[in-house]
Amino acid sequence: MYEREMKKCFRLAKKGMGKTSPNPLVGCVILDREGKEISNGYHHRYGANHAERDALLKITPDESRGGVLVVNLEPCSHYGKTPPCSELIIQYGLKKVVISNRDPNPKAAGGIEKLRQNGIEVIEGVLSKEGQFLNRVFFKNIVQKEPYIVIKTATTADGKIAASNGNSKWITSQKARNLARKFRQEFDAILTTSATVIADNPEMKHKKKIILDRECKLNFSEKIFETGNIILINNLQSCYQKLPPENTQIIKIEEADKKLNLKKIFNRLYEEGINSVFAEAGSKLNGEIIKQDLADEIIQFIAPKILNDNSGLSGFNGDTVQSVSEAKNFYLAELKQVPPDFYARYIKAQ
Ligand SMILES: NC(=O)c1ccc[n+]([C@@H]2O[C@H](COP(=O)([O-])OP(=O)(O)OC[C@H]3O[C@@H](n4cnc5c(N)ncnc54)[C@H](OP(=O)(O)O)[C@@H]3O)[C@@H](O)[C@H]2O)c1
Repeated sequence: MYEREMKKCFRLAKKGMGKTSPNPLVGCVILDREGKEISNGYHHRYGANHAERDALLKITPDESRGGVLVVNLEPCSHYGKTPPCSELIIQYGLKKVVISNRDPNPKAAGGIEKLRQNGIEVIEGVLSKEGQFLNRVFFKNIVQKEPYIVIKTATTADGKIAASNGNSKWITSQKARNLARKFRQEFDAILTTSATVIADNPEMKHKKKIILDRECKLNFSEKIFETGNIILINNLQSCYQKLPPENTQIIKIEEADKKLNLKKIFNRLYEEGINSVFAEAGSKLNGEIIKQDLADEIIQFIAPKILNDNSGLSGFNGDTVQSVSEAKNFYLAELKQVPPDFYARYIKAQ
């Protein structure tokens, strides 16, 4: 019941992608007492009205009285940037509220109880797995207080990201690369390395870009510095020959065994308000993120090509393992063609 409306809520919620962080993606559909849709809405961006308020304010209580409100996340019951949605739902006289997931944020939760205390029937758990997937960044942030980490990679069918001389242009088609750029905008920041910046000199358009540059190898003339806000991470802070450009901040993170501590980096980025990270780097960083169990998701674009070069760079450069049982497990959440290529989205198995 109400699955069709909930799917519409998910579609509406996705319109806010890349704009609502640190808030969740939420969509809402309102049905009148005959079951006909009379309004819908979504959370457009951080600080804007919640989805329920967005949908309710388009109609009057006379129109909604006795109707059903479908929303993918539990309506809030607290005063935040906007007043509690549960109060508005009560004022609008709805008789039933249908949700996908409870709000894990203790500050915002309690909406369901409040609605029930006011005689409103609440149905929970409609398409809850899909709802959980839609808001996977938000749920990780609230429960673990850490950013959600995605690795994006483009490989040949034999798993290579570059030839042995570092050449990687281009493994996948323009269409696949455009889609990868669209995915990038759904996350708070990009993460890359000085090795990748030196090899490819990419611009990597994004509002926030984090570059690991432990030994201050960059000189700020690289294209990546031309747009967005940059955070350079190193262990030395002041080893650059010249002052960094105005859009660039340097954060010092300690290293061990000549490697920056990734866990500390991610914790520090979370303190800086970065709730999700989209890593677009080479095999060493990818391998290290996997080795330390820090990847929540991998988006792998695959081109139907075989490089057939043993010394070509693999998508993931890790240590020698003795048994296949040591592999890190993910599950396949999405598989789509972007002809002539395709991409697979894997999520960390719990
Ligand atoms: N096809 C694709 O999807 C794709 C995407 C990006 C790049 N590439 C290709 O990948 C190649 C570069 O790959 P790569 O493996 O040489 O470099 P990488 O993975 O991009 O960067 C590795 C470097 O990052 C630094 N780093 C800092 N902290 C680290 C940590 N905790 N763990 C691991 N590394 C850390 C290290 O440099 P320091 O020693 O200076 O700390 C290390 O040498 C290029 O040829 C590029 O074209 C392909």
